[in-house]
Amino acid sequence: MSLYERFVSKGPSGFSYGSTAEQVTEGLSLTGKTYLVTGCNSGLGHEAMRVLALRGARVVGTARSEDKARQACASVTGQTVPLACELSDPRSVRACVDAVKARGIELDAIICNAGIMALPKLEKAHGYELQFFTNHIGHFILVTGLLDQLTPKGRVVMLSSDAHRGAPKSGIEFDNLDGSKGYGAWRAYGQSKIANALFAKELARRLAGTGKTAYSVHPGVIATNLTRSMNPLVAVAFAVGTPLALKSIPQGAATEVYVATNPRLLGASGDYFANSNVGKPRGDVRDEALAKRLWEVSETIVAGLPQ
Ligand SMILES: NC(=O)c1ccc[n+]([C@@H]2O[C@H](COP(=O)([O-])OP(=O)(O)OC[C@H]3O[C@@H](n4cnc5c(N)ncnc54)[C@H](OP(=O)(O)O)[C@@H]3O)[C@@H](O)[C@H]2O)c1
Repeated sequence: MSLYERFVSKGPSGFSYGSTAEQVTEGLSLTGKTYLVTGCNSGLGHEAMRVLALRGARVVGTARSEDKARQACASVTGQTVPLACELSDPRSVRACVDAVKARGIELDAIICNAGIMALPKLEKAHGYELQFFTNHIGHFILVTGLLDQLTPKGRVVMLSSDAHRGAPKSGIEFDNLDGSKGYGAWRAYGQSKIANALFAKELARRLAGTGKTAYSVHPGVIATNLTRSMNPLVAVAFAVGTPLALKSIPQGAATEVYVATNPRLLGASGDYFANSNVGKPRGDVRDEALAKRLWEVSETIVAGLPQ
């Protein structure tokens, strides 16, 4: 338990900063439900998969390769289906969509958990900045491909981050999606994470009236492999910060699991959650025109990618 969480009270959901994924699902039977979790081999995704399976759900766990997915799935108790889904490779994402469809799997939620953070130098996939491509475009292809597989009350959960507040002033720099007009590691990460929240917002708008819903989530700040491409001192700072104020991995996985599973979820489709309660994102996450434009630009990008 961190020092900070001792001073934080519970929110309206009955959960708080310190709640773990096991606590937010206590007493809940997920038998008969199926969840897809991207990035199931590490950090929050692995813990989310473990707890969902522990509660009786079947979990489709995806990772960059089938080998990684298989190993991760084998490491938890319960029913799992390992699939490859390399988010920076549209063919791999589409193959994952096809595999879910071919198996006739219906999904109670898609948890778009995988992500990369603050790459020190500009890297690209298919001509686009890599964090935007991996965190947003890869998941855009996956989710739009799987919408028909969602159960009538199925949910889409996008892992955003409070780091979305560091996105460019305009939200998304549509004229700089390749990074050629300037690159900042945190600005690009922030842009990819505001894209996750805007995608949830626009998806919620498009799904209105169907029973299917979409949300975005800030999991907290947690020492995971997410810092892998950064200066090793950052990992040290995370390790030192954990007992003081950071969340543990079981606490970090709580909000995504809560939003994916809670039968009495407080909040509306499109909302941004933090600490297993409705949170308050940057103002422009509510900018419908921006969210709509991002969707349309994403469709254009996807249409130009290798089939
Ligand atoms: N940890 C935090 O403090 C924090 C804070 C705010 C938001 N988040 C968000 O929470 C989510 C989970 O992060 P985490 O902390 O659990 O990090 P993590 O331990 O690094 O896990 C990230 C997962 O994403 C996968 N991934 C990365 N690139 C991928 C790609 N191109 N295709 C498919 N999978 C890919 C990783 O696979 P490999 O292991 O194979 O690379 C790994 O399974 C991320 O979306 C992150 O932005 C985390």
